[in-house]
Amino acid sequence: MLNRKVPDVTFRTRVRDESIEGPNPYRWEDRTTADFFSGKRVVLFSLPGAFTPTCSTYQLPDFEKLHDEFKAEGIDEIYCISVNDAFVMNAWAKQQGIEKVKVIPDGSGEFTRKMGMLVAKDNLGFGMRSWRYAAVVNNGLVEQWFEEEGFSDNCQSDPYGVSSPQNILENLRAEKSQAA
Ligand code: BEZ
Repeated sequence: MLNRKVPDVTFRTRVRDESIEGPNPYRWEDRTTADFFSGKRVVLFSLPGAFTPTCSTYQLPDFEKLHDEFKAEGIDEIYCISVNDAFVMNAWAKQQGIEKVKVIPDGSGEFTRKMGMLVAKDNLGFGMRSWRYAAVVNNGLVEQWFEEEGFSDNCQSDPYGVSSPQNILENLRAEKSQAA
């Protein structure tokens, strides 16, 4: 995975637009891989589903809390991606009070499939979802890779450890001190 380019896809996002009247002032906005990744050093983390317990209790809120510490390590943005549509991803970010981490809806699973990270979660009635992983992506190239152990379809457990923000920060700091 290291040094691979993240796949070129178009994400169908929903953005607020105050010029739209009525109770639901949102419109579709297509954003591409280039929009999110070109010319930036980012952390991307991918998880099995919005609103699921580990993702909602630890992973997303911890990335939000540690956002400024990532900035101090030279990270421009933190992106949370999941095989969920834009309505679900926006509702989850709102419910979690997320202001700094940006959510990316991969509703069709195209990005996740092309990353080689799509797994079946039919045992939970989820269909195809993302295996849990994270990456430091520099101008579209994978610079660091953090994949949870046991990649498999219909996994009974959903490991969470190496892709935690704490572990990624530790790696970024260790890398910086080695370079110094
Ligand atoms: C979670 O706790 O994050 C989780 C639960 C069920 C399926 C996938 C993830």
